[in-house]
Amino acid sequence: MSRFTLPRDIYFGEGSLATLKTLKGKKAVVVVGGYSMQKFGFLDKVVNYLKEADIQVKLIEGVEPDPSVETVMNGASIMRDFQPDWIVSIGGGSPIDAAKAMWIFYEYPDFTFEQAIIPFGLPELRQKAKFIAIPSTSGTGTEVTAFSVITDYKKKIKYPIADFNITPDIAIVDPELAQTMPQNLIANTGLDALTHAIEAYVAVFNSAFSDPLALQAIVMVKEYLLDSYNGDKKARNEMHSAQCLAGMAFSNALLGITHSMAHKTGAVFSIAHGCANAIYLPYVIQYNSKICSHRYATIANKLDLSGQTDDELVDSLVKWIQAMDKKMDIPLTLKDYGISEEDFKSNIEYISHNAVLDACTGSNPREIDDKTMEKLFTCIYYGEKVTF
Ligand SMILES: NC(=O)c1ccc[n+]([C@@H]2O[C@H](COP(=O)([O-])OP(=O)(O)OC[C@H]3O[C@@H](n4cnc5c(N)ncnc54)[C@H](O)[C@@H]3O)[C@@H](O)[C@H]2O)c1
Ligand SMILES: [Fe+2]
Repeated sequence: MSRFTLPRDIYFGEGSLATLKTLKGKKAVVVVGGYSMQKFGFLDKVVNYLKEADIQVKLIEGVEPDPSVETVMNGASIMRDFQPDWIVSIGGGSPIDAAKAMWIFYEYPDFTFEQAIIPFGLPELRQKAKFIAIPSTSGTGTEVTAFSVITDYKKKIKYPIADFNITPDIAIVDPELAQTMPQNLIANTGLDALTHAIEAYVAVFNSAFSDPLALQAIVMVKEYLLDSYNGDKKARNEMHSAQCLAGMAFSNALLGITHSMAHKTGAVFSIAHGCANAIYLPYVIQYNSKICSHRYATIANKLDLSGQTDDELVDSLVKWIQAMDKKMDIPLTLKDYGISEEDFKSNIEYISHNAVLDACTGSNPREIDDKTMEKLFTCIYYGEKVTF
C-alpha cells in the first residue's frame, strides 16, 4: 500500500494571505524569523488578520536560518505556556521547519529530538493544535511537506524529521510574500525547488500521483526561474506555485542523495541548502543515470532538450542545469565555491559517512556506500565527470 498526503487546504494566488481572517480558533502562536517578514510588513498583516478573526496572538520571533535544536526546544516551551490551538508559521523554510518541530515537543514534552529523527516514527499530532504554513521563499515547499530540517550545531549535522504528522493542515501560497527576495535567495531557493522535482521524479517512491507534479514543476522552473531572478513579477508569482508543486511531489515520492549530501555539508562548509543542491545535482544525475537514465531522459524530452538516445538526453539535462547555475552565479564545483583542498580533505570521510546515513539516501534510485560517496564528492570538488 502507498500513501499520498497533502494539506487539507492550499490557498494560493495574490491576496490569499487574507484567508487568515476567516480562521476559527482561540489562540495562535506566530513563528517567524528575525527580519524580512517584519521589515516588509507581512508579520503585521498576519497579526491583524488573526485579530480580525478574534484570535489571541503570541509571537515567537527570531528563528535563525537553519534552525537549531535549542531554538526548537525554546519555542516548544513558549507554546506549552501559551497553549495555542493554531500554530502559524511564516517566512522561509527555516521558521516554518522550526515551527513544525516545536509542534512535536509542544504536544509531547517528553519526546526527545533523537526519537523525532527516526523516519515516520512521530506520535499522533493535532491533540492540541493545527498548523498553518505561509512561505516567503520560492523553494523548500515545506508548506506542503512532511519534513522539517533541524541542525545539531554541536555535531554540525542537519537532521531531516520526516513524518506525515507534520504535513501542515493549511498552506497559504501568496506570491506577494516572495516578491521581496534578493537575487541570490531566488537562485538558491529556485534551484532547491528544481532539485526537489528532479529527485522526486526518480526517487524509489515515485508514482502516477507524484510524477505529474514533479514534471510540471520542472517545466515551470525552466520557463520562469531566470526571469524571476531578473526581476519579472509574473515569473516570481509562477515560481511560487512551481516550488509548491515540487513540494507536493517530493513529500510523497521522497528525495535522493543530492539532499543527503546537502544536509551533511551545509553546516560543515557553510553552504546554503539550495546552493549545495544546485552544485551537486548534475553529478548525482550522472551517478544515478547508470540505472535510471530513461527517467532523466523523459525529463529532458519534456524540456525540449537536444539528444536522441537516453545517454545524450541525460547529458543535455546535466548541461542545462549547469548553464542555469552559471547564469545565476552559482559555482559548478566545491572548489570554486571556495572550499580549500585542506578543508575538503580533512572533512571528506566525515561528510561522506554522514551523507550515506542521511534519511534521504534510502529513497535514492541507486545505492551508495561510504567509499563511493567519497569518490562522488571528489568529482564534485574538482568538477570531474562521474563515470562509475
Ligand atoms: N522542510 C522541507 O521540506 C525542506 C525542504 C528543503 C529545504 N528545507 C530547509 O529549509 C531551510 C532553507 O529555507 P529557505 O531557503 O526558504 O531560506 P531561510 O528560511 O533559511 O531564509 C534565508 C534568508 O532569507 C530571508 N528571507 C526569507 N523570505 C524573504 C523574502 N520574501 N524577502 C527577503 N528576504 C527573505 C530570511 O530572513 C533569511 O535571512 C534549510 O534549513 C533547508 O534545509 C526544508
Ligand atoms: Fe531542499
